[in-house]
Amino acid sequence: MSVVTILVGAQWGDEGKGKWIDILADRADYVVRFQGGNNAGHTLYVDGEKVVLHQIPSGIFQPNMCSALAAGVVVNPVQLVDELQKIRSLVTLTPGQLLLSPRAHVISPWHIQLDSTQEAQASKPIGTTKRGIGPTYAHKATRLGLRLGHYVDDQLRREWMTTMAQDDPAFADCLRQQAAAWEAFHAAAATIAPYVADVETHLRQAMTAGKRMLMEGAQGALLDLNHGTYPFVTSSSTCAGGACSSVGFSPKYVGKIYGVAKAYLTRVGAGAFPTELNDAAGQHLAKVGHEFGATTGRPRRCGWLDAVALRYSMGVNGFESLILNKLDVLTGLKEIKIAVAYQHPKLGRITDFPWDEATLAACTPVYESFSGWDTDIPKHGNIDNLPAAARDYVAAVARIVGCKIEMVGTGVNRGDALYL
Ligand code: IMP
Repeated sequence: MSVVTILVGAQWGDEGKGKWIDILADRADYVVRFQGGNNAGHTLYVDGEKVVLHQIPSGIFQPNMCSALAAGVVVNPVQLVDELQKIRSLVTLTPGQLLLSPRAHVISPWHIQLDSTQEAQASKPIGTTKRGIGPTYAHKATRLGLRLGHYVDDQLRREWMTTMAQDDPAFADCLRQQAAAWEAFHAAAATIAPYVADVETHLRQAMTAGKRMLMEGAQGALLDLNHGTYPFVTSSSTCAGGACSSVGFSPKYVGKIYGVAKAYLTRVGAGAFPTELNDAAGQHLAKVGHEFGATTGRPRRCGWLDAVALRYSMGVNGFESLILNKLDVLTGLKEIKIAVAYQHPKLGRITDFPWDEATLAACTPVYESFSGWDTDIPKHGNIDNLPAAARDYVAAVARIVGCKIEMVGTGVNRGDALYL
């Protein structure tokens, strides 16, 4: 019965989930993206070649495996066609190998324009990726959106555009002003059409038949629309439960949930970040960790690991195993810290992650300190191969967060992993 494994980001995204999906996909028949869109960027190294995927699940490079985008995803069709072209040199793709849900909502040039103008006009911008994610989910919620199954039908797509233009003069202006973008929007439909299938029914039947599924989370728990640091969040359910509602399956099928966290912390966009570093240690993390967004190229804000946030993320997701990624990035730091609690000017010492932004912004971290190490850590093998200080750090994370660490990331390549 326990055929589903869910892997989610345990922080503010960019934990390096793609690499672990690629590794775990070895044991799966299906890899399924269940939320988000091309705001995500998963960097993989396939045969030494760097590949950045935004929409296609990272398991696509595994032979005999099916990759799917489920109902909770939003799809930018033009970029999806680009991505399909990019991976064709690395893998021969057949329609049965990639399934796109007809229920997924489509990101149009109108949504992308809205995202940019809303951000430009906002007195407190979110710092979105400007990919049209929020407006597309908003239109889904207000029942004005276009679903992929209708998008690939020429007549239904044009009907949607006509209705939208009749009801909203700003949409009509966008049609006129962005003629080239709309042209590309139309053109992408034919390429995508063969991949559109009733993904959810297919996946439920496959689950009943005992097929193994890997649900691939995008972004991270702290960006979840309900449970994240609202309003500085994305517009989807990034946590493990989001997989069940997106695909439409019972939680009884879930066997294992992995949370992926970096050995430190990063954040892109605005919002409180108690352990943020604006010093030499922060610069080290940014430089050695190549902390620039895979989607936007924006520099990521860097800081120490925040165990208050990570414990919260563990509760919301229910993961019982943590993958601690990018441990190698800490090599060369003399001292390493973990926030074990927060100090708040009015509330005193806090160990529960606050529900609101203002409280979080007023918190200062209470740290535990650890010795660093300066010898390179081995890329493969077993935890015992680590320098003693690195081993102590990994043990401290497990103790402070209260979660078993099952794997440790030691480099960018697929094989750069220690197993505990
Ligand atoms: P949106 O998802 O483009 O609407 O952006 C909302 C917030 O989520 C912003 O703070 C973005 O920087 C952040 N965000 C969205 N996608 C990612 C991601 O893949 N990694 C990290 N942050 C992300």
